[in-house]
Amino acid sequence: MAQKIIIDTDPGQDDAVALLLALASPELQVLGVTAVAGNVPLPLTALNARKVVELSGRGDVPVFAGCDAPMHRRLVTAEHVHGKTGLDGIELPEPVLALQDQHAVDFIIETLRREPAGTVTLVPIGPLTNIATAFRRAPDVVARVQRIVLMGGAYFEVGNITPAAEFNIYVDPEAAAIVFDAGVPLVVMPLDVTHAALTNRAWVERMRAMPNRCGPAVASWTDFFERYDREKYGSEGAPLHDPCTIAWLLRPDLFSGREINVEIETKGEFTLGMTVADWWRVSDRAPNALFMRDVDAAGFFDLLTERIARLP
Ligand code: RIB
Ligand code: CA
Repeated sequence: MAQKIIIDTDPGQDDAVALLLALASPELQVLGVTAVAGNVPLPLTALNARKVVELSGRGDVPVFAGCDAPMHRRLVTAEHVHGKTGLDGIELPEPVLALQDQHAVDFIIETLRREPAGTVTLVPIGPLTNIATAFRRAPDVVARVQRIVLMGGAYFEVGNITPAAEFNIYVDPEAAAIVFDAGVPLVVMPLDVTHAALTNRAWVERMRAMPNRCGPAVASWTDFFERYDREKYGSEGAPLHDPCTIAWLLRPDLFSGREINVEIETKGEFTLGMTVADWWRVSDRAPNALFMRDVDAAGFFDLLTERIARLP
């Protein structure tokens, strides 16, 4: 029986690779893709989600637009990383795949109420605004969520948008606090692990040489996306943050971490959006998240290569 998931996303080149990985994998039944404002404003993240789903050949998967701003703050975007379209690197055609009329939050609520309790996993790979808004609007659905596998946060790697905070959490810290406090089983892919999932030239060239359209698209996105991280960190490549969530669903053995307590800073002057991860268990706060620390990078990229090759 395929694992039912909803991917909540702000494409974003790394989001796009995560979407392709999921849509190429028969172990996963993607019930829907919900767009949220994040890397770029909502109209662009919704358009980019449609473009990527169409590129994958999976026009059977519906795409929804969700919240266009954080719950209580102005939107902060990341064009400096992802480009003005949010998906710079390759020009994709205007998608034929329509955007669903239903709001993404209503789709999430309706789906969780319809599917048997405990059978749907939420995979947020952008700011947590849609998820938290669904939980606030329909508290009854919280207990029906099987688990949440999210990309966000940082501890050892500290912040990437401020010295203390990772982007997805920083954009909507109140939403993140709602999600981390909800009591839903959480698997967290922080920068601590995603920074070990670094692209390299040999892999990018393998993508470019792939005899389909998705492999070369991944290579072009990576060419664009990695320039920022290579300059900032002096690294060889770029961290493929968001695909770590999907890879964990497919091959949890590639990852390792700890069940610990993670709180979200929502008031700090310099630490707003920080994931205060009690990695050394020095507090008496109850564990609420499997916080990942290590990944078998070779295994991760082999999985990505094998799955992207299955796509058109
Ligand atoms: O900090 C990395 C996260 O922010 C990734 O999800 C990336 O797509 C951006 O949204
Ligand atoms: Ca993202």
